[in-house]
Amino acid sequence: MCGIVGYVGSQKATPILIDGLLALEYRGYDSAGIATIENSTLKVLKDKGRVNNLYNLDGINELEGTVGIAHTRWATHGQPSKLNSHPHMDNSNQFAVVHNGIIENYADLKKFLETNNYKFFSETDTEVIPNLIHYYYTNGPVSILSDSKERFLGAVKSAIYDLKGSYAIEVISTICPNEIIAVRKDSPLVIGKGDGENYIASDIPAILKYTKDFYLLDDNEFAVINKDSIKFFDNTLIEHNKAVKNIAWDANAASKDGYEDFMLKEIYEQPTAVRETIGSRFYLGKKCSFDDIHITKEYLQSVNKIFIIACGTAMHAGLAGKYMIEHLCKISTEVDAASEFRYRNPIVDEHTLCIYISQSGETADTIAALKLAKSKGAKTLAISNVIGSSITREADYTIYTHAGPEIAVASTKAYTSQVVLIAILSMYFAEILESTSYAEIEELKASMVDLPSKIEQILDDSSKIKDFAQMVYTEKDMFFLGRGIDYTVALESSLKLKEISYIHSEAYASGELKHGPIALIENGVTVIGIITNPQLVEKSVSNVQEVISRGAKTLIITNQILPSSNFDYVFNIPNTHPLLSPILSIIPMQLFAYYISKFKGLDVDKPRNLAKSVTVE
Ligand code: M6R
Repeated sequence: MCGIVGYVGSQKATPILIDGLLALEYRGYDSAGIATIENSTLKVLKDKGRVNNLYNLDGINELEGTVGIAHTRWATHGQPSKLNSHPHMDNSNQFAVVHNGIIENYADLKKFLETNNYKFFSETDTEVIPNLIHYYYTNGPVSILSDSKERFLGAVKSAIYDLKGSYAIEVISTICPNEIIAVRKDSPLVIGKGDGENYIASDIPAILKYTKDFYLLDDNEFAVINKDSIKFFDNTLIEHNKAVKNIAWDANAASKDGYEDFMLKEIYEQPTAVRETIGSRFYLGKKCSFDDIHITKEYLQSVNKIFIIACGTAMHAGLAGKYMIEHLCKISTEVDAASEFRYRNPIVDEHTLCIYISQSGETADTIAALKLAKSKGAKTLAISNVIGSSITREADYTIYTHAGPEIAVASTKAYTSQVVLIAILSMYFAEILESTSYAEIEELKASMVDLPSKIEQILDDSSKIKDFAQMVYTEKDMFFLGRGIDYTVALESSLKLKEISYIHSEAYASGELKHGPIALIENGVTVIGIITNPQLVEKSVSNVQEVISRGAKTLIITNQILPSSNFDYVFNIPNTHPLLSPILSIIPMQLFAYYISKFKGLDVDKPRNLAKSVTVE
């Protein structure tokens, strides 16, 4: 969704801001803009379209300011257009604002400002913010202050107090031309600490090449950023200190590193991501442990229900987690889409453990679903890939995947790392509860240690998947089938395909086929079957035979010896513990979606209408 960058230092801000926006392109956007201060004047350049279009705008090369803010917009209120793009200024052209999030009460605020003679030029919710700041600067209690810095900060604080909704905001003003004020609520914002220069961004990768030292702004916390200082204030403007965090991500991790696309690079990074996520969380013959959490037997014994709540791919990782927790820990586990969970009055109490999975840690529905469960007395555990992300700050417990930054909108390495981490968490719980035999857990651990080399084996075979993709990439519909944990992979495979290839696809539990969907099967339709569970091979193959006899073209992903051979294509994957099979069977499916998208000439990393991180409801 929208992206924010800010710079204050001694260098020309524009190239740094545009560079940061380019690094945030993966979040999805439709317009871009930049504002700097020069000779006590605000200069704003913005338009709809790609960030690189900014270089074609008149005056961009003449922007000499060393303080600036920038934004990529993903339209919510008002269509993509120059007028609706950020930054937005107040009527007096003294304040410029960029904003991520949604101001829910903007219509009321707009009415109030209009009765005070303010005019509006865009359809956005954001435009009320600079005008409210101006209103309070000139009319509010702070207007009597003689110190312009205090008055500016006070006006921003008063304006923020009026806002309902979610926001990450940067403000610059001709009144204090050497500083940026930043504030957030339910939308991420980080401040990068440099030497004689400082940076702001909605996402760490935007400024990772300049610094690895970050302050993670909290909800309702204000920061005043100059080139030599960063000051933090609470919502009553009492100043406080804040610890800097060193983020160990490699700056190259946010570049394509020779790969054609981020998605392909991230698919190939999976052996490393899985290895890093396992880390030192277990060794053969030793119990699982997490540095960051300690859960007691007494507490786990009191848990009678686990919910796993997430969105999209993260929810599919959660579905695999359900099989693991129920099998290893014998605790009933339900998986829910966060957007459903939060509005269906779920039965949750102190005997419920709610596990939230979010790569970004910023998904609005997932965060809201977490807050709901907390308010009902449940303990919450977050699984995230981003240190200090919003979800990790709300949850009672947090454990991290170590996938490194995931830039492509289509999630790949985050998914496999999430499945690995839930598997480790399930073993950790099972060891505490003594609910599974030592031998089975050791077998699972041994299988897990072998996963990275098995993923490498599959990746080495990618040309076979490319060939199949070439055969079918012009099709309009495809179907994915699986039973048990393979069904969860079918769901994820179908999502991967539709989001980057725009081919309509559906995933079905194989046994459900004859209860309706089989009516859709006709001559030439592509059906992909995932068959990894030794106990369900015969049944799964029978379901595939049913579609073959109705003319379907079939691809089978399997690690089993199949009782028949009349499939169009079979892609063999290495064997593993059945609970871990999603981590291997999804790899050819990710490649399949990737190659289809490439054959169709689409933008793999930035599919239409999608954003990497869905920070609005
Ligand atoms: O950052 P999150 O894991 O919370 O994101 C959840 C979904 O938006 C995400 O997994 C989405 O479905 C993927 N882009 C799909 O590839």
